Amino acid sequence: MDWGLKNRLSSIIKPHNNRALMLAVDHGYFLGPTEKLENPKKVIAPLLKYCDSLMLTRGVQRTSVAPETNTPMVLRVSGGSSIIGDDLSQEDITVSIQDAIRLNASALAMSIFVGSKYEYQTVVNLGKLVSEAESYGIPVLAVTAVGKELGKDARYLSLACRMAAEQGAHIVKTYYCENFEKVVQSCPVPIIVAGGKKIPERDALQLTYNAIKGGAVGVDMGRNIWQSDHPVAMIRAVRAIVHGNANVDQAFKIYKQLINEESKNKKNSNKQNKKPNNNPNKNNKPNNKQKKSNSNPKKNNNKPNTQNKKPNNNPNKNNKPNNKQNKKPNNQKPNSK
Ligand code: 5RP
Repeated sequence: MDWGLKNRLSSIIKPHNNRALMLAVDHGYFLGPTEKLENPKKVIAPLLKYCDSLMLTRGVQRTSVAPETNTPMVLRVSGGSSIIGDDLSQEDITVSIQDAIRLNASALAMSIFVGSKYEYQTVVNLGKLVSEAESYGIPVLAVTAVGKELGKDARYLSLACRMAAEQGAHIVKTYYCENFEKVVQSCPVPIIVAGGKKIPERDALQLTYNAIKGGAVGVDMGRNIWQSDHPVAMIRAVRAIVHGNANVDQAFKIYKQLINEESKNKKNSNKQNKKPNNNPNKNNKPNNKQKKSNSNPKKNNNKPNTQNKKPNNNPNKNNKPNNKQNKKPNNQKPNSK
């Protein structure tokens, strides 16, 4: 494996714990303005600092993500069909490798539709994409798409994941299922799990926990984060499982604590906004002192994490990383894939 490819891959799957938290916001490529993702810019901004990488299309990257970000971009390069069209599986490669490089993609993503009418086309496209991307040191994430007529059990997903790996995909994104371990064991490259449709927050945390226990490197989650009423609290709770080795109870507790903090902060800022402006300044100029303290998040006691500081959602009281746990994630042997 070339240095560049290894380097990009290690920005997505963190080498210190072999874990990954990817935020998926690519849904519009076939669903249009998906519920609660109508304005991707607004959705992405508060979540960006809590994910390891962002999965998106080039249109959303260009319009809705600040180019100053350090977060790696996993660029979806396939598409062509819509949710109201004849066949969702009829996808082709829609982005050139040159454009992907211009967008500084850390990985390319595309779907394969094993067992569908367009199985051949999508699988061959994956092989070609891997050849092209590898010549520039860019890894490829294959998404094993599921549909009404496609299965979602371990037998089907093992087939689809293994086929993706055989074509050279460097990461495979698939769904959690019963006997998920079998899917992982028969796939020679790391597996990341999609969140799927919105379910109650605790269930989504359970899914995250189960996926990692079953051998996934992490989650590539979308709707269960940004369709939550509390997306920031949710991604931080998911992060506590992926990177803090929290169990489901601990992560859910973190989620609820963060909601409480959110509502306290809201109340405080509402109070502050209601305060009359007692500025003695004759000209009625804005009170700079007040203005500064409101706009400077560092002066706020509820400090948000800065862009580059990833939050430590470790349930450990002192909020110190639990080294023992980090060394042995969930008592599972580190995935050497
Ligand atoms: C669609 C995708 C999505 O990114 C994927 O489904 C993850 O999002 P969610 O957690 O909402 O399922 O690749 O093909």
